[in-house]
Amino acid sequence: MLEISFAKPELPEDGVLVLLVAEGGELSAPVAGLDKKLKGALKRAMEAAEFSGKKGQQASLLAPGLYRKILLIGTGKPAAPAKPEELGGAAVVALAREVAVSVLAEAPEQAAKLAFGARLRAYRFEKYRTTQKPDEKAKLASLTVLTPDATAAEAAYKALAAVAHGVEFTRDLVTEPANILHPEAFADRAEGLKKLGLKVEVFGPKELEKLGFGTLLSVSQGSAREPRMVVLQWHGAAHEEEGKKGRKLHEPIAFIGKGVTFDTGGISIKPAAGMEDMKWDMAGAGAVVGAMAALAGRKAKVDAVGLVGLVENMPSGTATRPGDVVKSYSGQTVEILNTDAEGRLVLADVLYYAQQRFNPKYMVDLATLTGAIITGLGHEYAGLFSNDDALAEKLTAAGASVDEPLWRMPLVKLGESYDKELNSPIADVKNIGSRAGGSITAAQFLQRFVNGKPWAHLDIAGMAWAAKDSAVTPKGATAYGVRLLDAFARGFEG
Ligand code: BES
Ligand code: MN
Ligand code: ZN
Repeated sequence: MLEISFAKPELPEDGVLVLLVAEGGELSAPVAGLDKKLKGALKRAMEAAEFSGKKGQQASLLAPGLYRKILLIGTGKPAAPAKPEELGGAAVVALAREVAVSVLAEAPEQAAKLAFGARLRAYRFEKYRTTQKPDEKAKLASLTVLTPDATAAEAAYKALAAVAHGVEFTRDLVTEPANILHPEAFADRAEGLKKLGLKVEVFGPKELEKLGFGTLLSVSQGSAREPRMVVLQWHGAAHEEEGKKGRKLHEPIAFIGKGVTFDTGGISIKPAAGMEDMKWDMAGAGAVVGAMAALAGRKAKVDAVGLVGLVENMPSGTATRPGDVVKSYSGQTVEILNTDAEGRLVLADVLYYAQQRFNPKYMVDLATLTGAIITGLGHEYAGLFSNDDALAEKLTAAGASVDEPLWRMPLVKLGESYDKELNSPIADVKNIGSRAGGSITAAQFLQRFVNGKPWAHLDIAGMAWAAKDSAVTPKGATAYGVRLLDAFARGFEG
Protein backbone atom coordinates (compact mmCIF):
# COMPACT_ATOMS: atom_id res chain seq x y z
CA MET A 1 0.00 0.00 0.00
CA LEU A 2 1.21 3.46 -0.85
CA GLU A 3 2.16 5.42 2.27
CA ILE A 4 0.56 8.87 2.16
CA SER A 5 1.57 11.94 4.19
CA PHE A 6 0.96 15.67 4.14
CA ALA A 7 3.45 18.41 4.94
CA LYS A 8 3.88 22.17 4.73
CA PRO A 9 5.21 23.21 1.36
CA GLU A 10 8.79 23.89 2.27
CA LEU A 11 10.18 22.65 -0.98
CA PRO A 12 12.69 19.87 -0.56
CA GLU A 13 15.99 20.56 -2.24
CA ASP A 14 16.48 17.07 -3.58
CA GLY A 15 14.59 13.85 -4.32
CA VAL A 16 11.71 13.48 -6.75
CA LEU A 17 9.22 16.28 -7.09
CA VAL A 18 5.94 16.55 -9.00
CA LEU A 19 4.70 19.98 -10.04
CA LEU A 20 1.28 20.81 -11.44
CA VAL A 21 1.16 23.38 -14.24
CA ALA A 22 -2.01 24.90 -15.67
CA GLU A 23 -2.49 25.33 -19.41
CA GLY A 24 -1.10 28.62 -20.62
CA GLY A 25 2.17 28.01 -18.79
CA GLU A 26 1.46 30.46 -15.96
CA LEU A 27 3.44 29.09 -13.00
CA SER A 28 1.99 29.16 -9.48
CA ALA A 29 4.02 31.24 -6.98
CA PRO A 30 5.96 28.37 -5.38
CA VAL A 31 6.72 26.81 -8.76
CA ALA A 32 7.88 30.17 -10.13
CA GLY A 33 10.10 30.52 -7.05
CA LEU A 34 11.63 27.12 -7.70
CA ASP A 35 12.19 28.00 -11.35
CA LYS A 36 14.12 31.05 -10.24
CA LYS A 37 16.24 28.97 -7.89
CA LEU A 38 16.99 26.57 -10.72
CA LYS A 39 17.98 29.49 -12.95
CA GLY A 40 15.01 29.07 -15.29
CA ALA A 41 15.47 25.32 -15.83
CA LEU A 42 11.72 24.63 -15.51
CA LYS A 43 10.75 27.21 -18.13
CA ARG A 44 13.51 26.03 -20.45
CA ALA A 45 12.40 22.39 -20.07
CA MET A 46 8.78 23.33 -20.74
CA GLU A 47 9.79 25.10 -23.90
CA ALA A 48 12.12 22.33 -25.07
CA ALA A 49 9.46 19.68 -24.47
CA GLU A 50 6.69 21.86 -26.00
CA PHE A 51 4.90 21.50 -22.68
CA SER A 52 1.91 23.83 -22.48
CA GLY A 53 0.11 22.37 -19.44
CA LYS A 54 -2.60 20.59 -21.44
CA LYS A 55 -4.59 18.12 -19.36
CA GLY A 56 -2.48 15.04 -18.74
CA GLN A 57 0.60 16.34 -20.57
CA GLN A 58 3.90 15.46 -18.89
CA ALA A 59 7.50 16.60 -19.08
CA SER A 60 10.34 15.45 -16.89
CA LEU A 61 13.64 17.04 -15.97
CA LEU A 62 16.40 14.68 -14.97
CA ALA A 63 18.75 15.76 -12.19
CA PRO A 64 18.15 19.53 -12.18
CA GLY A 65 20.08 21.11 -9.30
CA LEU A 66 20.27 18.57 -6.49
CA TYR A 67 16.97 16.93 -7.47
CA ARG A 68 16.85 13.44 -8.86
CA LYS A 69 13.85 14.15 -11.06
CA ILE A 70 11.17 16.81 -11.48
CA LEU A 71 7.95 15.77 -13.22
CA LEU A 72 5.65 18.44 -14.61
CA ILE A 73 2.01 17.43 -15.14
CA GLY A 74 -0.43 19.59 -17.07
CA THR A 75 -3.72 20.34 -15.34
CA GLY A 76 -5.48 21.85 -18.35
CA LYS A 77 -7.41 25.09 -18.64
CA PRO A 78 -8.16 26.68 -15.25
CA ALA A 79 -11.86 26.84 -16.22
CA ALA A 80 -12.00 23.04 -16.72
CA PRO A 81 -9.11 21.60 -14.74
CA ALA A 82 -8.14 17.92 -14.56
CA LYS A 83 -9.56 15.99 -11.61
CA PRO A 84 -7.01 15.87 -8.79
CA GLU A 85 -7.62 12.10 -8.38
CA GLU A 86 -6.49 11.62 -11.98
CA LEU A 87 -3.38 13.76 -11.46
CA GLY A 88 -2.45 11.61 -8.48
CA GLY A 89 -3.02 8.50 -10.57
CA ALA A 90 -0.86 9.84 -13.40
CA ALA A 91 1.96 10.72 -10.99
CA VAL A 92 2.23 7.22 -9.50
CA VAL A 93 2.22 5.61 -12.94
CA ALA A 94 4.98 7.90 -14.23
CA LEU A 95 7.07 7.47 -11.09
CA ALA A 96 6.39 3.82 -10.23
CA ARG A 97 10.13 3.07 -10.24
CA GLU A 98 10.98 5.75 -7.69
CA VAL A 99 10.79 4.96 -3.99
CA ALA A 100 9.58 8.26 -2.53
CA VAL A 101 7.90 11.18 -4.26
CA SER A 102 6.69 14.65 -3.24
CA VAL A 103 3.85 16.50 -4.96
CA LEU A 104 3.14 20.17 -4.61
CA ALA A 105 -0.59 20.92 -4.29
CA GLU A 106 -2.62 23.99 -3.35
CA ALA A 107 -6.06 23.73 -1.72
CA PRO A 108 -6.50 21.06 1.00
CA GLU A 109 -9.32 19.40 -0.93
CA GLN A 110 -7.14 19.11 -4.03
CA ALA A 111 -4.27 17.70 -1.96
CA ALA A 112 -6.51 15.06 -0.36
CA LYS A 113 -8.12 13.97 -3.62
CA LEU A 114 -4.75 13.80 -5.32
CA ALA A 115 -3.48 11.47 -2.58
CA PHE A 116 -6.67 9.38 -2.87
CA GLY A 117 -6.24 8.94 -6.64
CA ALA A 118 -2.57 8.09 -6.20
CA ARG A 119 -3.36 5.42 -3.62
CA LEU A 120 -6.14 3.85 -5.74
CA ARG A 121 -3.96 3.79 -8.84
CA ALA A 122 -0.98 2.31 -6.98
CA TYR A 123 -2.95 -0.80 -5.91
CA ARG A 124 -1.11 -4.05 -6.56
CA PHE A 125 -1.91 -7.70 -5.89
CA GLU A 126 1.39 -9.55 -5.78
CA LYS A 127 1.06 -12.14 -3.05
CA TYR A 128 1.36 -15.09 -5.44
CA ARG A 129 4.37 -13.77 -7.38
CA THR A 130 7.48 -15.40 -5.98
CA THR A 131 9.94 -15.10 -8.87
CA GLN A 132 9.47 -11.48 -9.96
CA LYS A 133 12.82 -9.77 -10.51
CA PRO A 134 13.48 -6.49 -8.73
CA ASP A 135 13.54 -4.56 -12.01
CA GLU A 136 10.04 -5.84 -12.85
CA LYS A 137 8.53 -4.57 -9.63
CA ALA A 138 6.99 -1.21 -8.90
CA LYS A 139 8.96 0.37 -6.08
CA LEU A 140 6.97 3.44 -5.15
CA ALA A 141 6.32 3.26 -1.40
CA SER A 142 5.58 6.77 -0.23
CA LEU A 143 3.97 9.95 -1.46
CA THR A 144 4.20 13.24 0.40
CA VAL A 145 1.75 15.95 -0.57
CA LEU A 146 3.18 19.40 0.10
CA THR A 147 0.36 21.82 0.75
CA PRO A 148 -0.04 25.10 2.67
CA ASP A 149 -2.70 23.79 5.06
CA ALA A 150 -1.41 20.26 5.68
CA THR A 151 -3.69 19.80 8.69
CA ALA A 152 -6.83 20.53 6.69
CA ALA A 153 -5.62 18.30 3.87
CA GLU A 154 -4.99 15.48 6.30
CA ALA A 155 -8.46 15.85 7.78
CA ALA A 156 -10.04 15.76 4.30
CA TYR A 157 -7.96 12.71 3.43
CA LYS A 158 -9.07 10.77 6.49
CA ALA A 159 -12.55 10.04 5.08
CA LEU A 160 -11.11 9.31 1.64
CA ALA A 161 -8.60 6.89 3.16
CA ALA A 162 -11.50 4.90 4.62
CA VAL A 163 -13.04 4.69 1.15
CA ALA A 164 -9.67 3.71 -0.36
CA HIS A 165 -9.41 0.96 2.24
CA GLY A 166 -12.88 -0.27 1.23
CA VAL A 167 -11.84 -0.28 -2.44
CA GLU A 168 -8.64 -2.20 -1.67
CA PHE A 169 -10.51 -4.68 0.51
CA THR A 170 -12.93 -5.35 -2.37
CA ARG A 171 -10.21 -5.58 -5.01
CA ASP A 172 -8.41 -8.18 -2.89
CA LEU A 173 -11.60 -10.26 -2.55
CA VAL A 174 -12.40 -10.04 -6.26
CA THR A 175 -8.84 -10.89 -7.36
CA GLU A 176 -8.39 -13.92 -5.10
CA PRO A 177 -8.76 -17.21 -6.97
CA ALA A 178 -11.74 -19.39 -6.08
CA ASN A 179 -9.68 -22.18 -4.50
CA ILE A 180 -8.68 -19.66 -1.83
CA LEU A 181 -11.78 -17.48 -1.69
CA HIS A 182 -14.68 -19.90 -1.23
CA PRO A 183 -17.82 -18.81 0.65
CA GLU A 184 -16.42 -19.64 4.08
CA ALA A 185 -13.20 -17.71 3.43
CA PHE A 186 -15.16 -14.71 2.16
CA ALA A 187 -17.28 -14.77 5.33
CA ASP A 188 -14.15 -14.97 7.49
CA ARG A 189 -12.73 -11.88 5.83
CA ALA A 190 -16.00 -10.02 6.29
CA GLU A 191 -15.91 -10.97 9.97
CA GLY A 192 -12.54 -9.24 10.20
CA LEU A 193 -14.42 -5.96 9.65
CA LYS A 194 -15.75 -6.16 13.20
CA LYS A 195 -12.66 -4.22 14.19
CA LEU A 196 -14.10 -1.19 12.35
CA GLY A 197 -17.19 -1.26 14.57
CA LEU A 198 -19.47 -3.17 12.20
CA LYS A 199 -21.81 -5.79 13.59
CA VAL A 200 -21.19 -8.95 11.56
CA GLU A 201 -23.35 -12.09 11.57
CA VAL A 202 -22.54 -15.23 9.60
CA PHE A 203 -25.20 -17.80 8.64
CA GLY A 204 -24.10 -21.34 7.73
CA PRO A 205 -26.00 -24.14 5.95
CA LYS A 206 -27.92 -25.19 9.08
CA GLU A 207 -29.26 -21.68 9.69
CA LEU A 208 -30.03 -21.16 6.00
CA GLU A 209 -31.95 -24.43 5.83
CA LYS A 210 -33.87 -23.51 8.95
CA LEU A 211 -34.79 -20.14 7.45
CA GLY A 212 -35.93 -21.88 4.28
CA PHE A 213 -33.46 -20.34 1.82
CA GLY A 214 -34.40 -22.88 -0.85
CA THR A 215 -33.28 -20.98 -3.93
CA LEU A 216 -29.88 -19.98 -2.49
CA LEU A 217 -29.26 -23.54 -1.28
CA SER A 218 -30.25 -24.99 -4.67
CA VAL A 219 -27.21 -23.22 -6.13
CA SER A 220 -24.71 -24.38 -3.53
CA GLN A 221 -25.92 -27.99 -3.23
CA GLY A 222 -23.60 -29.28 -5.97
CA SER A 223 -20.49 -27.88 -4.32
CA ALA A 224 -18.24 -29.38 -1.68
CA ARG A 225 -18.02 -25.88 -0.20
CA GLU A 226 -20.65 -24.76 2.28
CA PRO A 227 -22.75 -21.66 1.57
CA ARG A 228 -22.81 -18.62 3.80
CA MET A 229 -24.85 -15.47 4.21
CA VAL A 230 -23.18 -12.53 5.91
CA VAL A 231 -25.14 -9.64 7.41
CA LEU A 232 -23.23 -6.46 8.28
CA GLN A 233 -24.78 -3.59 10.21
CA TRP A 234 -23.58 -0.04 10.63
CA HIS A 235 -25.41 2.15 13.13
CA GLY A 236 -24.18 5.64 12.36
CA ALA A 237 -27.27 7.86 12.32
CA ALA A 238 -28.00 9.91 15.42
CA HIS A 239 -31.42 9.11 16.83
CA GLU A 240 -32.65 11.75 19.24
CA GLU A 241 -35.04 9.55 21.15
CA GLU A 242 -32.40 6.94 21.97
CA GLY A 243 -29.45 6.96 24.27
CA LYS A 244 -26.06 5.74 23.18
CA LYS A 245 -26.64 2.18 24.30
CA GLY A 246 -28.94 -0.24 22.53
CA ARG A 247 -29.39 1.95 19.50
CA LYS A 248 -31.68 0.43 16.93
CA LEU A 249 -31.38 0.68 13.19
CA HIS A 250 -33.99 3.01 11.85
CA GLU A 251 -35.12 2.35 8.26
CA PRO A 252 -31.55 1.70 7.12
CA ILE A 253 -30.38 1.73 3.55
CA ALA A 254 -29.75 -1.87 2.54
CA PHE A 255 -27.08 -3.13 0.15
CA ILE A 256 -27.36 -6.70 -1.14
CA GLY A 257 -24.63 -8.51 -3.08
CA LYS A 258 -24.36 -11.57 -5.32
CA GLY A 259 -21.45 -13.62 -4.02
CA VAL A 260 -20.92 -16.59 -6.32
CA THR A 261 -17.31 -17.38 -5.50
CA PHE A 262 -17.10 -19.47 -8.66
CA ASP A 263 -19.73 -19.93 -11.36
CA THR A 264 -19.18 -23.00 -13.54
CA GLY A 265 -22.80 -22.77 -14.64
CA GLY A 266 -23.59 -25.97 -12.74
CA ILE A 267 -25.22 -28.76 -14.80
CA SER A 268 -25.97 -26.10 -17.48
CA ILE A 269 -22.19 -25.87 -17.63
CA LYS A 270 -20.34 -22.98 -19.26
CA PRO A 271 -17.86 -23.43 -22.14
CA ALA A 272 -14.19 -23.76 -21.11
CA ALA A 273 -12.93 -20.58 -22.79
CA GLY A 274 -12.92 -17.70 -20.33
CA MET A 275 -14.48 -19.67 -17.48
CA GLU A 276 -11.66 -18.46 -15.22
CA ASP A 277 -13.39 -15.07 -15.23
CA MET A 278 -16.09 -16.59 -13.06
CA LYS A 279 -13.84 -16.28 -10.03
CA TRP A 280 -15.05 -12.68 -9.96
CA ASP A 281 -18.74 -13.60 -9.95
CA MET A 282 -18.74 -12.42 -6.34
CA ALA A 283 -17.89 -8.81 -7.23
CA GLY A 284 -21.34 -7.57 -6.16
CA ALA A 285 -20.88 -9.06 -2.70
CA GLY A 286 -17.31 -7.74 -2.68
CA ALA A 287 -18.53 -4.20 -3.39
CA VAL A 288 -21.19 -4.41 -0.68
CA VAL A 289 -18.67 -5.49 1.93
CA GLY A 290 -16.12 -2.87 0.80
CA ALA A 291 -18.76 -0.14 0.94
CA MET A 292 -19.76 -1.16 4.47
CA ALA A 293 -16.07 -1.03 5.43
CA ALA A 294 -15.87 2.48 3.97
CA LEU A 295 -18.94 3.69 5.91
CA ALA A 296 -17.65 2.26 9.18
CA GLY A 297 -14.10 3.45 8.52
CA ARG A 298 -15.21 7.05 8.09
CA LYS A 299 -17.92 6.77 10.77
CA ALA A 300 -20.67 7.78 8.37
CA LYS A 301 -23.72 9.34 10.00
CA VAL A 302 -26.11 6.88 8.43
CA ASP A 303 -27.78 3.56 9.23
CA ALA A 304 -26.84 0.93 6.69
CA VAL A 305 -26.93 -2.83 6.35
CA GLY A 306 -25.07 -5.06 3.91
CA LEU A 307 -26.18 -8.60 3.11
CA VAL A 308 -24.29 -11.00 0.88
CA GLY A 309 -25.25 -14.47 -0.33
CA LEU A 310 -22.14 -16.62 -0.79
CA VAL A 311 -22.18 -19.86 -2.78
CA GLU A 312 -20.14 -21.86 -5.25
CA ASN A 313 -22.00 -23.08 -8.36
CA MET A 314 -20.66 -26.52 -9.31
CA PRO A 315 -21.91 -29.56 -11.26
CA SER A 316 -21.92 -32.83 -9.35
CA GLY A 317 -24.09 -35.76 -8.32
CA THR A 318 -25.83 -33.54 -5.80
CA ALA A 319 -26.24 -30.53 -8.08
CA THR A 320 -29.58 -29.04 -9.09
CA ARG A 321 -30.92 -30.39 -12.42
CA PRO A 322 -32.69 -28.31 -15.06
CA GLY A 323 -36.38 -28.76 -14.40
CA ASP A 324 -36.04 -28.98 -10.62
CA VAL A 325 -38.56 -27.01 -8.58
CA VAL A 326 -37.50 -25.40 -5.30
CA LYS A 327 -39.17 -23.22 -2.69
CA SER A 328 -37.75 -19.79 -1.98
CA TYR A 329 -37.64 -18.02 1.39
CA SER A 330 -40.50 -15.82 0.15
CA GLY A 331 -42.69 -18.92 -0.19
CA GLN A 332 -42.81 -18.73 -3.98
CA THR A 333 -41.79 -21.85 -5.89
CA VAL A 334 -39.22 -21.58 -8.68
CA GLU A 335 -38.70 -23.86 -11.67
CA ILE A 336 -34.98 -23.87 -12.43
CA LEU A 337 -34.63 -24.26 -16.18
CA ASN A 338 -31.01 -23.17 -16.41
CA THR A 339 -28.63 -23.72 -13.51
CA ASP A 340 -26.35 -21.01 -14.94
CA ALA A 341 -28.99 -18.39 -14.10
CA GLU A 342 -27.93 -18.83 -10.46
CA GLY A 343 -27.22 -15.29 -9.27
CA ARG A 344 -30.90 -14.39 -9.28
CA LEU A 345 -31.64 -17.50 -7.19
CA VAL A 346 -29.15 -16.38 -4.56
CA LEU A 347 -30.42 -12.79 -4.56
CA ALA A 348 -34.10 -13.81 -4.39
CA ASP A 349 -33.71 -15.21 -0.87
CA VAL A 350 -31.34 -12.52 0.40
CA LEU A 351 -33.47 -9.66 -0.97
CA TYR A 352 -36.60 -11.04 0.63
CA TYR A 353 -34.82 -11.55 3.94
CA ALA A 354 -33.35 -8.04 3.89
CA GLN A 355 -36.71 -6.32 3.53
CA GLN A 356 -38.45 -8.59 6.01
CA ARG A 357 -35.85 -8.18 8.73
CA PHE A 358 -34.76 -4.57 8.31
CA ASN A 359 -37.65 -2.69 6.71
CA PRO A 360 -35.12 -0.69 4.67
CA LYS A 361 -35.81 2.78 3.30
CA TYR A 362 -34.07 1.79 0.06
CA MET A 363 -32.68 -1.51 -1.16
CA VAL A 364 -29.87 -1.67 -3.71
CA ASP A 365 -28.48 -4.93 -5.02
CA LEU A 366 -25.23 -5.33 -6.96
CA ALA A 367 -24.55 -8.37 -9.10
CA THR A 368 -22.49 -9.65 -11.99
CA LEU A 369 -25.81 -10.98 -13.16
CA THR A 370 -25.84 -11.29 -16.94
CA GLY A 371 -23.56 -11.52 -19.95
CA ALA A 372 -26.33 -9.68 -21.79
CA ILE A 373 -25.62 -6.42 -19.95
CA ILE A 374 -22.10 -6.50 -21.46
CA THR A 375 -23.65 -6.94 -24.90
CA GLY A 376 -25.94 -4.00 -24.22
CA LEU A 377 -23.74 -1.48 -22.40
CA GLY A 378 -20.17 -2.75 -22.84
CA HIS A 379 -17.70 -1.67 -20.19
CA GLU A 380 -18.77 1.98 -19.87
CA TYR A 381 -21.92 1.83 -17.73
CA ALA A 382 -23.43 -0.61 -15.29
CA GLY A 383 -27.13 -1.31 -15.87
CA LEU A 384 -29.59 0.26 -13.44
CA PHE A 385 -33.06 -1.21 -12.97
CA SER A 386 -35.41 0.35 -10.46
CA ASN A 387 -39.05 0.49 -9.38
CA ASP A 388 -38.52 3.99 -7.94
CA ASP A 389 -37.56 7.10 -9.94
CA ALA A 390 -36.22 9.06 -6.96
CA LEU A 391 -33.91 6.20 -6.00
CA ALA A 392 -32.77 5.79 -9.61
CA GLU A 393 -31.90 9.47 -9.75
CA LYS A 394 -29.98 9.42 -6.48
CA LEU A 395 -27.95 6.42 -7.61
CA THR A 396 -27.24 7.88 -11.05
CA ALA A 397 -26.03 11.13 -9.50
CA ALA A 398 -23.89 9.28 -6.95
CA GLY A 399 -22.32 7.17 -9.69
CA ALA A 400 -21.58 10.17 -11.89
CA SER A 401 -19.91 12.00 -8.99
CA VAL A 402 -17.31 9.24 -8.56
CA ASP A 403 -16.89 8.08 -12.16
CA GLU A 404 -18.87 4.88 -11.64
CA PRO A 405 -21.58 5.57 -14.19
CA LEU A 406 -25.01 3.94 -14.43
CA TRP A 407 -27.43 3.71 -17.34
CA ARG A 408 -31.08 3.13 -16.61
CA MET A 409 -32.73 0.11 -18.23
CA PRO A 410 -36.40 -0.88 -18.48
CA LEU A 411 -38.33 -2.53 -15.68
CA VAL A 412 -42.06 -3.24 -16.00
CA LYS A 413 -44.74 -3.99 -13.43
CA LEU A 414 -45.68 -7.51 -12.40
CA GLY A 415 -47.83 -9.17 -15.03
CA GLU A 416 -46.66 -6.94 -17.89
CA SER A 417 -44.55 -7.77 -20.98
CA TYR A 418 -41.08 -8.88 -19.81
CA ASP A 419 -42.44 -10.08 -16.50
CA LYS A 420 -44.97 -12.42 -18.12
CA GLU A 421 -42.14 -14.38 -19.72
CA LEU A 422 -41.26 -15.69 -16.30
CA ASN A 423 -44.52 -17.53 -15.70
CA SER A 424 -43.87 -21.26 -15.30
CA PRO A 425 -46.23 -24.08 -16.27
CA ILE A 426 -45.40 -25.98 -13.07
CA ALA A 427 -44.31 -23.44 -10.44
CA ASP A 428 -44.90 -19.78 -9.52
CA VAL A 429 -41.99 -18.51 -11.57
CA LYS A 430 -39.17 -19.87 -13.75
CA ASN A 431 -35.60 -18.64 -13.55
CA ILE A 432 -35.09 -17.65 -17.21
CA GLY A 433 -37.03 -15.84 -19.91
CA SER A 434 -36.35 -16.06 -23.63
CA ARG A 435 -32.83 -15.19 -24.86
CA ALA A 436 -33.93 -11.71 -25.89
CA GLY A 437 -33.56 -8.95 -23.29
CA GLY A 438 -31.72 -11.25 -20.89
CA SER A 439 -30.64 -8.53 -18.46
CA ILE A 440 -34.18 -7.21 -18.23
CA THR A 441 -35.84 -10.57 -17.53
CA ALA A 442 -33.15 -11.19 -14.90
CA ALA A 443 -34.11 -7.91 -13.20
CA GLN A 444 -37.78 -8.81 -13.55
CA PHE A 445 -37.10 -12.10 -11.79
CA LEU A 446 -35.57 -10.22 -8.86
CA GLN A 447 -38.54 -7.88 -8.73
CA ARG A 448 -40.78 -10.86 -8.00
CA PHE A 449 -38.99 -11.05 -4.65
CA VAL A 450 -39.33 -7.34 -3.84
CA ASN A 451 -42.37 -6.43 -1.81
CA GLY A 452 -43.02 -3.03 -3.30
CA LYS A 453 -40.07 -1.44 -1.43
CA PRO A 454 -38.07 1.20 -3.29
CA TRP A 455 -35.40 -1.02 -4.82
CA ALA A 456 -32.69 -0.85 -7.44
CA HIS A 457 -30.66 -3.56 -9.11
CA LEU A 458 -27.23 -2.76 -10.54
CA ASP A 459 -25.97 -5.29 -13.10
CA ILE A 460 -22.21 -4.77 -12.87
CA ALA A 461 -21.06 -7.72 -15.05
CA GLY A 462 -19.33 -5.35 -17.49
CA MET A 463 -17.69 -3.19 -14.82
CA ALA A 464 -16.26 -5.52 -12.18
CA TRP A 465 -13.10 -6.45 -14.04
CA ALA A 466 -11.07 -4.20 -16.37
CA ALA A 467 -8.93 -5.46 -19.24
CA LYS A 468 -6.91 -2.24 -19.25
CA ASP A 469 -5.63 0.41 -16.89
CA SER A 470 -7.60 3.63 -16.37
CA ALA A 471 -7.10 6.87 -14.47
CA VAL A 472 -7.38 5.58 -10.90
CA THR A 473 -7.84 1.86 -11.51
CA PRO A 474 -5.15 -0.55 -12.63
CA LYS A 475 -6.36 -3.38 -14.85
CA GLY A 476 -8.04 -6.25 -12.99
CA ALA A 477 -10.58 -5.97 -10.18
CA THR A 478 -12.10 -2.48 -10.18
CA ALA A 479 -14.19 -2.59 -6.98
CA TYR A 480 -16.89 -0.85 -9.01
CA GLY A 481 -19.72 0.08 -6.67
CA VAL A 482 -17.77 0.82 -3.50
CA ARG A 483 -17.33 4.51 -4.26
CA LEU A 484 -20.83 4.71 -5.73
CA LEU A 485 -22.52 3.25 -2.63
CA ASP A 486 -20.39 5.44 -0.37
CA ALA A 487 -21.42 8.55 -2.34
CA PHE A 488 -25.06 7.40 -2.28
CA ALA A 489 -24.90 6.98 1.52
CA ARG A 490 -23.49 10.50 1.86
CA GLY A 491 -26.84 11.76 0.62
CA PHE A 492 -28.45 10.53 3.86
CA GLU A 493 -25.98 12.13 6.27
CA GLY A 494 -27.29 15.34 7.78
N1 BES B 1 -22.21 -14.81 -13.80
C1 BES B 1 -22.93 -14.93 -15.00
C2 BES B 1 -23.00 -13.60 -15.77
C3 BES B 1 -21.68 -13.09 -16.30
C4 BES B 1 -21.27 -13.45 -17.57
C5 BES B 1 -20.92 -12.21 -15.57
C6 BES B 1 -20.07 -12.94 -18.07
C7 BES B 1 -19.73 -11.72 -16.06
C8 BES B 1 -19.31 -12.09 -17.30
C9 BES B 1 -24.36 -15.38 -14.72
O1 BES B 1 -24.51 -16.22 -13.63
C10 BES B 1 -24.81 -16.14 -15.92
O2 BES B 1 -24.26 -17.17 -16.18
N2 BES B 1 -25.81 -15.61 -16.60
C11 BES B 1 -26.33 -16.24 -17.77
C12 BES B 1 -27.82 -16.17 -17.71
C13 BES B 1 -28.52 -17.06 -18.71
C14 BES B 1 -28.27 -18.53 -18.40
C15 BES B 1 -30.00 -16.77 -18.68
C16 BES B 1 -25.79 -15.47 -18.97
O3 BES B 1 -25.62 -14.25 -18.89
O4 BES B 1 -25.52 -16.11 -19.98
MN1 MN C 1 -24.23 -18.26 -14.13
ZN1 ZN D 1 -23.09 -16.04 -12.14
